Amino acid sequence: MTEQLSPRLQSFLKGVKKLYINGQFVDSVSGKTFTSYNPATGDEIAEVAEAGREDVEKAVRAARDAFDNGPWSTMGTAERSRIIYKLADLMEEHKLELAQLETLDNGKPIRETMNADVPLSIEHFRYYAGWATKIVGQTIPVQGNFFNYTRHEPVGVIGSIIPWNFPLMMAAWKLGASLATGCTIVLKPAMNTPLSVLYLAELAEKAGFPKGVINILPGSGRVVGQTLVEHPDVNKIAFTGSTPVGKSIMKSAADTMKRVTLELGGKSPNIILPDADLTKAIPGALQGIMFNQGQVCSAGSRIFIQKNMYDNVLAELENHAKQIKQGNGLDKDITMGPLISAQQQQTVTNYIEKGIQEGAELVTGGNIPFDKGYFVSPTIFADVDNKMTIAQEEIFGPVVAAIPFDNMDDLIAKANDSDFGLAAGIWTENLRNAHYLAHNLKAGTVWINTYTAFDAAAPFGGYKQSGIGREMGSYALDNYTEVKSVWVNM
Ligand code: TAP
Repeated sequence: MTEQLSPRLQSFLKGVKKLYINGQFVDSVSGKTFTSYNPATGDEIAEVAEAGREDVEKAVRAARDAFDNGPWSTMGTAERSRIIYKLADLMEEHKLELAQLETLDNGKPIRETMNADVPLSIEHFRYYAGWATKIVGQTIPVQGNFFNYTRHEPVGVIGSIIPWNFPLMMAAWKLGASLATGCTIVLKPAMNTPLSVLYLAELAEKAGFPKGVINILPGSGRVVGQTLVEHPDVNKIAFTGSTPVGKSIMKSAADTMKRVTLELGGKSPNIILPDADLTKAIPGALQGIMFNQGQVCSAGSRIFIQKNMYDNVLAELENHAKQIKQGNGLDKDITMGPLISAQQQQTVTNYIEKGIQEGAELVTGGNIPFDKGYFVSPTIFADVDNKMTIAQEEIFGPVVAAIPFDNMDDLIAKANDSDFGLAAGIWTENLRNAHYLAHNLKAGTVWINTYTAFDAAAPFGGYKQSGIGREMGSYALDNYTEVKSVWVNM
């Protein structure tokens, strides 16, 4: 049954949603707006103020002032921690609204936004609220009559640019560590999904962050994103998105020597070994690619299956794929929603065409199941060669490339034969095989007998062209701090 929107959410959706700059909800300087659409129906959800260069100037000035002169960076860390905890508590109070809004704006099933996106985002803030009081330097035994110690100081103003596939969670990933370390932020959500982040801004205002600490600017990547990247008063860019945009950001950021962390794309292998428990491996591997309609940077889009069991495993993957229930994510029974946009639907169907042209066997799916909304059926390709386009390029849709392998050496060579290195999955009951592969796969995360497990405490990020740096855990704190070495002549 389709969920009724909560009255609080209905009231939020009325009127133009404004930019959040310097503790105020304001129209854009140009007065321009854009529409946010529900990808399950194509219906309008809300009108949103569209930031331009002048708005970036205002927001960066506010964040700079809040950092240089405001109370945030000099505030006691316990107080900083308390405000971040308060934001998490408010999110908990507004969990239903956040989940419904994320489902409306992105299309993902409500069962996922209620059980994954929103709770993981809340826990993310709690985890970093805890860190705010625990960021410490070292005292270092140096030679001579000196005393040396280090201070871990906040980097300054952070420009955060996030994608549309996990809007609230990506905002939490960017804000959590920035806030805990004492930085101030200008965050640009993707134009496809600005709404949950703007709802979060209202909660942040209630939580009591000093003005200018958090600024939210919906607007285009080309204008808002690029201006942030080039701005001399922004000290660091934290970006999540595609590898091509990540590369252009890295180049542009060089002019002002900005710190840059990049969480980019992937083409992750998910490996089913002959000794796997197939009752878990098959649904687990399928979920590893179909979750979030395949629009996950770490999606296990290449499923590797040993040749002797290939036909059996493939038949079971197909059975499970046919049980996926597609439709409007507000319906609690739905397990797969639409893709984010007509453009993404086109991109994915182009890749499906390419797979057929290059000689892969289309086992199931490959079609657009409904007239309305941007759906693509769960799709499986068999007999995929790892050199094919559908095995090398990130599709960002519900498309499996099932690749046979002979032995461990063949498997490792093929699994690592990718420009990306974000994640990998291994399904096996053999401890030695599990760790042997975990050590030999070039990936920032390896999941053994599970896939897409996340926790604020565990680092995440990529090898190779999947990015630079690690988010989450204590590792992310390094991204937002400068280390100062202080010498004292005793
Ligand atoms: P992108 O097109 O790269 O967009 C990501 C963000 O960057 C959006 O906010 C976009 O703004 C902005 N942007 C676009 N061009 C820009 C520019 N020249 N300068 C600065 N910002 C710019 O990616 P997407 O299509 O939104 O997301 C899908 C991609 O993100 C996939 O490749 C996926 O793997 C990757 N991703 C990676 C991760 C991690 S953790 N590694 C997580 C999620 C997604 P607009 O509003 O104009 O689009």
